[in-house]
Amino acid sequence: MTKILIDCDPGIDDAMALALAAGAPGLEVVAVTTVGGNADLAVTTRNALALREFLDLGDIPVAPGSPGALLHPVVRADHVHGPTGLGAAVLPEPVRAAADGHAVDVIIDTLRAAPGEVTLVAIGPLTNIALAVRKEPRVVEWARDLVIMGGSATRGNHNPAAEFNMLADPEAAAIVFRSGWTVKMLGLDVTLTAVVTSAVLDRMRPLGRLAEFLIPAATSYGVVTADGGPTIHDACAVAYVLDPALVTMTPAVVDVEIRGEHTRGMTVVDFRPMDRVPNALVGTHLDVDRFWDTMLDAYGRLAER
Ligand code: BDR
Ligand code: CA
Repeated sequence: MTKILIDCDPGIDDAMALALAAGAPGLEVVAVTTVGGNADLAVTTRNALALREFLDLGDIPVAPGSPGALLHPVVRADHVHGPTGLGAAVLPEPVRAAADGHAVDVIIDTLRAAPGEVTLVAIGPLTNIALAVRKEPRVVEWARDLVIMGGSATRGNHNPAAEFNMLADPEAAAIVFRSGWTVKMLGLDVTLTAVVTSAVLDRMRPLGRLAEFLIPAATSYGVVTADGGPTIHDACAVAYVLDPALVTMTPAVVDVEIRGEHTRGMTVVDFRPMDRVPNALVGTHLDVDRFWDTMLDAYGRLAER
């Protein structure tokens, strides 16, 4: 059983990633921390609290963190995720409140309490993770691993050069990539292939109340066709923790552009033979069929509970 702490900004694909984590037999979610990103922090935290209850994640802490980037004005993706952050999906108002502590302290305390045991999975802007490293550099040793959804070796999605989570806080991302861990980076090279096609949607239909959440969420995130549809970026990071064989990972040196006029937030990924020690393993290929088998298996287990 792999313990994971998920730092997120739900977010449609964040929610679908949390659902994977909740249903997967090999994962134990020990805490959820939130960050402003797809929507304001109040919205992402509300959604995380609602998901804790809807997905039956138990009595784990859900702790709000940073409302915005370290240095620059807020960048949001509400044109993608809608004003509620969950597209057309509706979740009941949560009953239980957020944890008292700040996300950064929950991250530090959770890792300190179980050195080498907890994998950090960051699927939003990296503001909380950067602050945790700055406040307590030993989190790098204490984390079993750091797996992120973010960046790309090729192209952007929020603009031509930058992927959203990187663009939303490039300085934080730069800190994280320079902190000494080997970041497992699931970027657009991989996540753009994790597409909800009509065949995938058909496999979600029998999932009862879970389907009533997943289908409006997915279909408001993009147009589903026989061979195209919305891409469930964040679930790739959780799926990788569950089954690393799903993704081909290639060593690289990753730098985050923090100054470029047209390239701010771009991940500059160097796969060449290099004299610098790689600071990342970058996802370069996803076994898409196995990915959806893994997703649907976990969703099926969740629906049966
Ligand atoms: C990332 O940006 C957000 O909109 C998604 O939730 C995902 O984490 C994809 O670029
Ligand atoms: Ca996200």
